[in-house]
Amino acid sequence: MHDTHIRGNYFYLIIVIIFATIVTAISAFLIYRNSIKAAEDSLNLQALGIAVSLETSLNNSYDLKNIFKEIITESKWEGIAFIALYDKNSMTILHSNEKLIGKQVQDRNLKKVIDTGIPSHAYITLGTGERVFVLDFPVHIHNSERVLRLALHTYPAQGIVRQARLHVSGMAFIIAVLWIVGYFFVRASRYSDELRMKMAERERFAAIGEMASVLAHEIRNPLGSIKGFAQYLKEQNTDDRRQGTDFLDIIVSESKRLEALTEDLLMYAKPVEVKCEDFDVLDLINEVVKSMQSHKNVDITVSVHEGIKIKSDSTKLKQILMNILQNAIDAESKVIDIKADFMNNKIAILISDDGCGMSREVRENAFKPFFTTKTKGTGLGLAIVDKLTKAIGGEVEIKSEHQKGTVFKIVIPKNLI
Ligand SMILES: Nc1ncnc2c1ncn2[C@@H]1O[C@H](COP(=O)(O)OP(=O)(O)OP(=O)(O)O)[C@@H](O)[C@H]1O
Ligand SMILES: [Mg+2]
Repeated sequence: MHDTHIRGNYFYLIIVIIFATIVTAISAFLIYRNSIKAAEDSLNLQALGIAVSLETSLNNSYDLKNIFKEIITESKWEGIAFIALYDKNSMTILHSNEKLIGKQVQDRNLKKVIDTGIPSHAYITLGTGERVFVLDFPVHIHNSERVLRLALHTYPAQGIVRQARLHVSGMAFIIAVLWIVGYFFVRASRYSDELRMKMAERERFAAIGEMASVLAHEIRNPLGSIKGFAQYLKEQNTDDRRQGTDFLDIIVSESKRLEALTEDLLMYAKPVEVKCEDFDVLDLINEVVKSMQSHKNVDITVSVHEGIKIKSDSTKLKQILMNILQNAIDAESKVIDIKADFMNNKIAILISDDGCGMSREVRENAFKPFFTTKTKGTGLGLAIVDKLTKAIGGEVEIKSEHQKGTVFKIVIPKNLI
């Protein structure tokens, strides 16, 4: 519930950022598109103005050749790249570049204007590589139909587009900043939420542990009496009261189970006292294996070098190994393999089994107290493993695949002190 609420908060923040990005992207696109259109309109208007006044000037003059040259050099007509006059056969009659006069031009745009008599504009790239705006404008010069071609430098009009580009870059920058800030915000709040949840969970477990330890203490003594008297009655039993012994057996075995539970509860809840001693890892593992092997038909192989001596708490390590082995046996393993070796100043113990393995969900929860998938399990086995391993300065991790098997890796310091 709490988790979904947190995720909901991130979700809204991400939606807001995505919405802001879409709105900004659309407006940036429109700004850019309109700026291109505005630049083109301004060039078109400028070109039309020049073309109309040129037509008048050309009709008033009989030295057409020179008038073109003058126009190109006069500052009044600034912005013109070239001008040309064509007849109905696309023949160049006049050109600001004299070398081109008399040449026939193959140009679709020009042909269209000659055919339709409607002015038209386009962008073309000159031989110099410059992109210019070209207006083809039908004119009447001394009663002959001609087409006036006017090429304008786009540079001045492009100022509008450049400004729009700057605007769009600014918007992109703001959006990028928004995403980066959003990303770090989500990360930071997720981290703090996780921390808060972990702390709340720890507090909850501590409270449960405390309650459990009180309960375990209270149960232990009466339970001892129940078990003791049941055993006593069983011993006293005579043949004619034989049928009652089965029930006494149940009382004894269930009392033992409860006793084991109270021990687990106390072990989990009590603060750990560490006692250090020198011992041989192989000896300790063999001892544990011996105590477990009577349980079930399982083959436990030990591949540990002789003479791996460490200084740690042997009782705690024994308990850790017993809990892990018990789980492997419960998982219906046929073969369990135990390996141990030095890793720098530490010792790594690997316990692999070929049992039922764990699903992702089980693996993620396995160390949590009271998490169990077994009908008669308490879910304290691995919680105790985790607690004891930490108490002797080590770490424990699980690698497990469903239906394939499980590997527990315990790494503890060679010398605890
Ligand atoms: N070797 C393993 N193979 C498959 N599943 C495992 C193995 N070890 C642990 N598990 C899973 O992790 C769960 C938690 O284990 P844990 O030892 O904490 O509790 P438990 O064995 O269920 O109960 P308890 O040990 O208290 O009797 C188990 O119920 C089991 O599902
Ligand atoms: Mg267990």
